[in-house]
Amino acid sequence: MRASPDVVPSSARVVVLVSGGGSNLAALLEAQRDPAWGARVVGVVSDRAGAGGLEIARAAGVATAVVAPRDFPDREAWDRGMAQAVGVFEPAWVVSVGFMRILGAPFLDRFAQRVINTHPALLPSFPGAHGVRDALAHGVRVTGCTVHLVDAGVDTGPILAQRAVEVLAGDDEATLHERIKVEERALLVDVVGRAAREGLTVEGRATRFG
Ligand code: GAR
Repeated sequence: MRASPDVVPSSARVVVLVSGGGSNLAALLEAQRDPAWGARVVGVVSDRAGAGGLEIARAAGVATAVVAPRDFPDREAWDRGMAQAVGVFEPAWVVSVGFMRILGAPFLDRFAQRVINTHPALLPSFPGAHGVRDALAHGVRVTGCTVHLVDAGVDTGPILAQRAVEVLAGDDEATLHERIKVEERALLVDVVGRAAREGLTVEGRATRFG
């Protein structure tokens, strides 16, 4: 595995973490066709060799790495392995899109306040692996998506941006998630581009670009 050439400016370099399908990754790759967007995906890292996002990355000529937990003796060793694999790409930003594992201290310490996650609910409501299902089960009329910084908790880090999505009569988890993902992809592209172009200031839970 080799890092992408250093012609990509350091502030633009993005590594994407995926466990599954990768439609958010595809949106980021589409966005970078316009150099004015300001960010560039230089690597994609997954915990699963079969993740669809890896295929999307390879098709786009982006370097990939797989860091599977079963290849490590324990959780902390896996975290260090993730930090090393991601660090090879020297990213300014690490963007987790449907990455279904909790990142621990060895990883978060290295990329402090530079790990961005997207979640399919309006946090702090419905964190965790089933944000869409849990929102539906609760009977909310409005849900949405949240792009936030990752901290040591589960979907608890400072919020960068949110968009609301109405729950329609007859929605099931799949139909609602698809409508959320339309908004989520646009929001994520906007946030990652702004972070790369303008930088990010974080004071406690308050965040602003620039
Ligand atoms: C996205 O909706 C993302 O918010 C969600 O997985 C989907 C991945 O879609 N993540 C979580 O639920 C994390 N708790 P994608 O693979 O098509 O980008």
